[in-house]
Amino acid sequence: MLNFGIIGVGRMGIIHAKNIYEGHLKDVHLQAICDIDKKVLTKCKRLFKKVNTYEKYEDMIANEKLDGVIIATPHYLHKDQAIYLINHGVNTLIEKPLYPNVNGIDEIIKKAANSKLVLGVSYNQRSNPLYKKAKELIEKGAIGKINYANFTITSWYRAQCYYNQGGWRGSWSGEGGGALINQCVHQIDILQNILGIPKSVLATCKTVNRNITVENDVLAILKYEDFNCTLLVSNHDLCGKTEFEISGDKGRITIDETSMLIQTHIDEKIVNRETTDGYGKCEVFKKKYSYGQTNISFDAKYGQQLHSLEKFRDAINKKGSVLATINEGLNAVEIINGIYLSSDNNKEIDLPVDRKEYKKFINKKMEEEKNVRR
Ligand SMILES: NC(=O)c1ccc[n+]([C@@H]2O[C@H](COP(=O)([O-])OP(=O)(O)OC[C@H]3O[C@@H](n4cnc5c(N)ncnc54)[C@H](O)[C@@H]3O)[C@@H](O)[C@H]2O)c1
Repeated sequence: MLNFGIIGVGRMGIIHAKNIYEGHLKDVHLQAICDIDKKVLTKCKRLFKKVNTYEKYEDMIANEKLDGVIIATPHYLHKDQAIYLINHGVNTLIEKPLYPNVNGIDEIIKKAANSKLVLGVSYNQRSNPLYKKAKELIEKGAIGKINYANFTITSWYRAQCYYNQGGWRGSWSGEGGGALINQCVHQIDILQNILGIPKSVLATCKTVNRNITVENDVLAILKYEDFNCTLLVSNHDLCGKTEFEISGDKGRITIDETSMLIQTHIDEKIVNRETTDGYGKCEVFKKKYSYGQTNISFDAKYGQQLHSLEKFRDAINKKGSVLATINEGLNAVEIINGIYLSSDNNKEIDLPVDRKEYKKFINKKMEEEKNVRR
C-alpha cells in the first residue's frame, strides 16, 4: 500500500482526494492533505475521516512519510512547490500546466536532472483512446505525409462568474495566461504529442466580452517543416466544439469529442498523375481508391484523472511510466508562450522561445495588470 498526500484541495484536488479515499485508486491510501484555506480543511476533515490535514505543505512533508504527492494548487505555485518536493526526495505528480512559463519549467527540469524520483504532469487527456489511436495510425503512415492540420477548440465556454470565483483566474500573475494555458493546454499537449513541436508560430490573441486581462480568443498558425497547423480557440462560444483534423497524402483523420473518422485513399500524388478527371471525383477513382471509412465511437470522457493517478502509482511501483514526464510537460507551454509572444509583438516567433524575451513579456504583463480593476 502506498501513502499519498495532496497539496491544494480545491476543484481538482478534491476529485483526486475522493478517488483515493473512496478506494478507486487501488493499493493507495490517502494519508494527508494540505490547503491554506481553513474552510477547505474543515470540509476535508468531515469528508475524509482519519486523513491528516495541514495548512502548510512544508509541515506535511516534515511529519508524514509519503510515497507520492499530487500538486493541485493554482498555476503560479507549481514551480516552488515542485522544487521543494524534489529537494525533499518526494515522488510528485503536478497538475497541468506544469508551470505557465518556459523559464519556470526550465528551473524544474534542471532541478530534476539525474533524479531517480517519479515526476509527472497530469495531462489526463493523453489517456483518451481516440488520440492514442490517431497517434498510432499516423506513425504507421496510415494517412501518408501530413499536408495540413487544424485544431478547433471552442468547447471550453467560460462565463465571467467563472473568472470571478478565484483571485488567480483570468490573470497573468495567477494563471499565467488565459484559455490557452488553462484549458487548451490539454489539447495543445495532444497536438504536440501527435505532430511534434512546430518550428515557429504566428498568432493573434484577443479578450472578448470578459473583464479579464488574458485571452479567451485565439487564432494561430503553427508552422512545421512541411505543413501548417491552424489553431482556433474561443472560450466564449456557446455552440463550441473540439475537433482535430489531420490531412495527409493518403487520407484524413478527424477526431471530435466522442468519435474518430478515418478516411484513407491511394496516394494523392498517384491520383494527380494518373486521373483524367481534373476534379478528383471520377467514378473509377472513387471505386478503386476510396476505402476504409471507419468510425470508432466510445466513451472517452470519464475517469481520465483517475487514470493519470494510476499511471503515477504504477511508475512508483516500477510497473510503468507516468502519463507525461516533466520534460514532455514543457512542450505545450513552449508553443503557448510562443503564441503569446507572437500576438504581443505582431510577428512570427521561432521555437523554442527566447527565454529572456519571454521573461520581459510576462513581467510587463504582470506590471500592466496591477493597474486594472476587476
Ligand atoms: N486535469 C484536469 O482536468 C484539471 C481540471 C481542473 C483544474 N486542474 C488544475 O488543477 C490545479 C488547481 O485548479 P483548481 O481548479 O482546483 O483551483 P482551485 O482554486 O479550485 O483550488 C486550488 C486550491 O489550492 C489551495 N491553495 C492555494 N495556495 C496554496 C498553498 N500555498 N498551499 C496549499 N494549498 C493552497 C486553495 O486554497 C484551493 O483550495 C490547476 O493547476 C488547474 O489547472 C486540472
